[in-house]
Amino acid sequence: MEVKTSLLDNMIGVGDMVLLEPLTEDSFLENLKKRFDHNEIYTYIGSVVISLNPYRSLPIYTPDKVEEYRNRNFYELSPHIYALADEAYRSLRDQDKDQCILITGESGAGKTEASKLVMSYVAAVCGKGQEVNKVKEQLLQSNPVLEAFGNAKTVRNDNSSRFGKYMDIEFDFKGDPLGGVISNYLLEKSRVVKQPRGERNFHIFYQLLSGASDDTLKKLKLERDFSKYNYLSLDSATVSGLDDAANFRTVRNAMQIVGFMEDEMQSVLELVAAVLKLGNIEFKPESRCNGMDESRIKDKNDLKEMCELLGIEQSVLERAFSYRTVEAKMEKVSTTLNVAQAYYARDALAKNLYSRLFSWLVTRINESIKAQAKTRHKVMGVLDIYGFEIFEDNSFEQFIINYCNEKLQQIFIELTLREEQEEYIREGIEWTNIEYFNNAVICGLIENNQNGILAMLDEECLRPGTVTDETFLDKLNTICADHQHFESRLSKNSKFLNDHSLPHNCFRIQHYAGKVLYRVEGFVDKNNDLLYRDLSQAMYKANHSLIKQLFPEGNPVKVNLKRPPTAGFQIKASVGTLMSNLQTKNPNYIRCIKPNDKKASHIFNESLVCHQARYLGLMENVRVRRAGYAFRQAYEPCLERYKMLCKNTWPHWKGPARQGVEVLMTNLQVPAEEYSYGRSKIFIRNPRTLFFLEEKRKQCLEDLATLIQKIYRGWKCRSHFLLLKKSQIVVASWYRRYAQQKKYQKIKHSTTVVQSYTRGWQARKLLRELKYQKKCEEAVTTIAAFWHGTQVRREYRKFFRANAGKKIYNFTIQRIMQKYFLGLKSKLPSMSPIDKTWPARPYSFLDGVHAELRRIFHLWRCKKYRSQFTEEKKAVYEEKLEASELFKDKKALYPSSVRQPFKGDYLEISKNPKYQKLSSAVDEKILLADVVNKINRANGKGSPRLFLLTKKNVVLADQKTGQLKANVPLTDLASVSTSSQTDGFFALKLKEGSASAIKGDFLLSSDHLIEMITKLHRISSMAADREKLNIDILDEFLVQFKQDKVCVKFIQGSPKNGNSVSCKRKNNRLLEVSVPASS
Ligand SMILES: Nc1ncnc2c1ncn2[C@@H]1O[C@H](COP(=O)(O)OP(=O)(O)O)[C@@H](O)[C@H]1O
Ligand SMILES: [Mg+2]
Repeated sequence: MEVKTSLLDNMIGVGDMVLLEPLTEDSFLENLKKRFDHNEIYTYIGSVVISLNPYRSLPIYTPDKVEEYRNRNFYELSPHIYALADEAYRSLRDQDKDQCILITGESGAGKTEASKLVMSYVAAVCGKGQEVNKVKEQLLQSNPVLEAFGNAKTVRNDNSSRFGKYMDIEFDFKGDPLGGVISNYLLEKSRVVKQPRGERNFHIFYQLLSGASDDTLKKLKLERDFSKYNYLSLDSATVSGLDDAANFRTVRNAMQIVGFMEDEMQSVLELVAAVLKLGNIEFKPESRCNGMDESRIKDKNDLKEMCELLGIEQSVLERAFSYRTVEAKMEKVSTTLNVAQAYYARDALAKNLYSRLFSWLVTRINESIKAQAKTRHKVMGVLDIYGFEIFEDNSFEQFIINYCNEKLQQIFIELTLREEQEEYIREGIEWTNIEYFNNAVICGLIENNQNGILAMLDEECLRPGTVTDETFLDKLNTICADHQHFESRLSKNSKFLNDHSLPHNCFRIQHYAGKVLYRVEGFVDKNNDLLYRDLSQAMYKANHSLIKQLFPEGNPVKVNLKRPPTAGFQIKASVGTLMSNLQTKNPNYIRCIKPNDKKASHIFNESLVCHQARYLGLMENVRVRRAGYAFRQAYEPCLERYKMLCKNTWPHWKGPARQGVEVLMTNLQVPAEEYSYGRSKIFIRNPRTLFFLEEKRKQCLEDLATLIQKIYRGWKCRSHFLLLKKSQIVVASWYRRYAQQKKYQKIKHSTTVVQSYTRGWQARKLLRELKYQKKCEEAVTTIAAFWHGTQVRREYRKFFRANAGKKIYNFTIQRIMQKYFLGLKSKLPSMSPIDKTWPARPYSFLDGVHAELRRIFHLWRCKKYRSQFTEEKKAVYEEKLEASELFKDKKALYPSSVRQPFKGDYLEISKNPKYQKLSSAVDEKILLADVVNKINRANGKGSPRLFLLTKKNVVLADQKTGQLKANVPLTDLASVSTSSQTDGFFALKLKEGSASAIKGDFLLSSDHLIEMITKLHRISSMAADREKLNIDILDEFLVQFKQDKVCVKFIQGSPKNGNSVSCKRKNNRLLEVSVPASS
């Protein structure tokens, strides 16, 4: 962020009107507008701050801003209310000068906001600590309380202060706040009973009704509905942007912080409620017999409730509303009140009640915020008084308000001029008189003790006889007619006789801020501000501590027959006190301006602003300030700001600042009449000169910037170049080093190579020589050895030839045999008898041995193999062996049987229940059981039969039923015939003459022919009592059927017969079996 050192930096328009060139009303307004449009709402006229109401919140009141303006000189930063507050606070703290901040402007121009801003700024910058913070908090929190009771919505301002406020904040020597005193001026109490159209009563009424709890309202006998109360205007009961309910809580909270007790708050609310109730009391006329008009209360309920609230006896108050007692010279006279008078009395009571309550609040707050310490303290006063008011209908209130503003303007003029003058004297500059409008005449017209308007009014009010507003106006017409600021239709001055804008019941005053037309109606009454004594006495009788306090004059013991001072008199007196108070202090002005009448942001109504600027006398202010010299500045900051304009002062001036400035001004050839040297400041006559200096400074700054840039750039480039140069050297040296290193390494390497080659060559040469030498030595040894060998051999040859040959032969043979056996041992084939391999023989002379060894090994291996057999297995092999003896090379069927195991029992007869009978018939062990075909002689076809073989018999049985067909003892069997071919036909031939032979031989065919016949043969050969069974293998044999012998002939079947064996009967004596050719 750019750091500001002067108001003149980055100005929008001019920040100080004094610098306006040319100074005209148009340029003045244009400057204000330009700044307003750029959100610059503050502008200075010297040390006066003009403030335009932005009607929206601007981000210029943040804690950062407070810090920015803290302890900075007034002209150092752009115009701000904080700059003024800071200046005032510092001059109070550091120079021990009491300060007052005078805030003026129309209603709604932002005075109250400004006063709050000043207070919050001071609170932010002054000391901290628990005690100090409590004081600050109480001072700040007095605002919401007073605003609730003293502010109202008007057409100008939604939060218009309806009272004048002056607050003295007291500080100790360190600048820490100690406490404060608030003075209030003329509360606009008529508002309590009647409000102009579009306006509201005081905020507190609405806040109470919308914000209080149901319980509280019940206690106060109130209802939430605004429309229930006559005193509350309804047309703008709620205001947008105002949250009455929330504000009520804020107010209660603020009251607590300020130090109100709970019962005090309750009493205050009771009074507020009582005022509302009072407004609802209505009267009706009642005629009396004596012809006097009388009034009666219409509905006594509200009266009753009000009396209950305030603890007043109902009858006392009722009487006070019906009679008026006048005491004169120890005599009491009572008169009845008619309806109008009753209403007047009611409203007077309400207004008094409220305004006294308000004054009590101020007193009560003062009690809380009063400075505790008795030490001498410094004071900062903040005056926020109602602004100048011009309404359509202006009455006594406006008259008083405008009078106050006249007085303030007066003091402004006086103090500004005086200050200006004092500065000139202080600085030793010659003072020239300036023309400006002094409103002292208008103040005179109003407050002059002999013929001032207020004096006239008091005189009228005190005069015996009938006094009306009209008689008052007449009096004014006669006495003030000649005054140049007074206008009236009925004055003798013919000037206004035909002025129809000036009605007969009005008078007009040319205030410094404009002409205002006042209607005299109500002037007398309001000035009298009478409250019938009966009412104040009734109030005093109330059983309510606060009410009693508010009406001390009702105390019958202290009856004071003297009239109370009039309102006008009181105001004049308090304004007088205020003025003399202000005059003792160092003034600081904030002049608030309203940019438009619509309470709208961004709108700048030129005519409206122009009007305000005019009556606030701002142009005069500028002129006064510029009279003689427009601009002044202390020597130090001046020299600091412009020293670059002259070679002698730049960059450092050694001597005193004043001399420096003098050198500067002469050097710049500024005409001597354009400036004067004060004691601590230089005074510049024309803004032109200042701008000339500023312009030069700007140029110079640019040149300086260029210079700085130039030097900086030069420096930067130079350092860059130097750096480059340095780097280049470094790089070069490094590179050279590297190159040399490389070169050196190459040479070193080459040297090594050359060296190694020579060394190698030398070594090889040496090696060759050594080898040659060694060979020579070896040759000698070898030759010697050979020679010795030859010698020795020649010596021994004769022994060697006689014996060695045989021995060597035997030895060699032995070695060879040894080698052969060992080799065979390691190469023996496996132990499987069917393994046909055998190692090759190494020498042919070993042929016989080799074959023999193979045979022996095989036999041995077979024996080993056999020795592993069990008995059963042995029997099986024996059987197989027998089969081989019987059929090998005899029957073509044999080879296919070798692989088949001889199972014997293929049928498991004994386990089959079907053949139970059969198995019981055969009592011996069954050695073979199978199904065979019994060949029928008649057709050659076979029919299946069970074939069983035991040790003694051959049994044939029916296959299906197991019925025994034939049982042939083996002893009856003569021989068995079968063919040499692959068929399974065989014939069992019986011994002729045996018992079985009767039935004839059996021609059978079986799948297990080889096994069957082998078994038959084996059984018969084992039986000792029998001769061996004959097995005939023939391709043609005879079979003895019962009677005949039939020849069975086996022929090689032709291929068309297929692969099966078929048996056909050729004739009675021949059965031809065709067997497929064995492949
Ligand atoms: N500095 C400000 N910034 C923002 N709004 C402002 C400022 N000054 C005044 N206002 C607005 O203008 C309204 C009227 O201001 P106020 O101080 O009550 O006027 P006055 O006291 O002069 O009658 C305020 O309620 C607020 O909305
Ligand atoms: Mg205000």
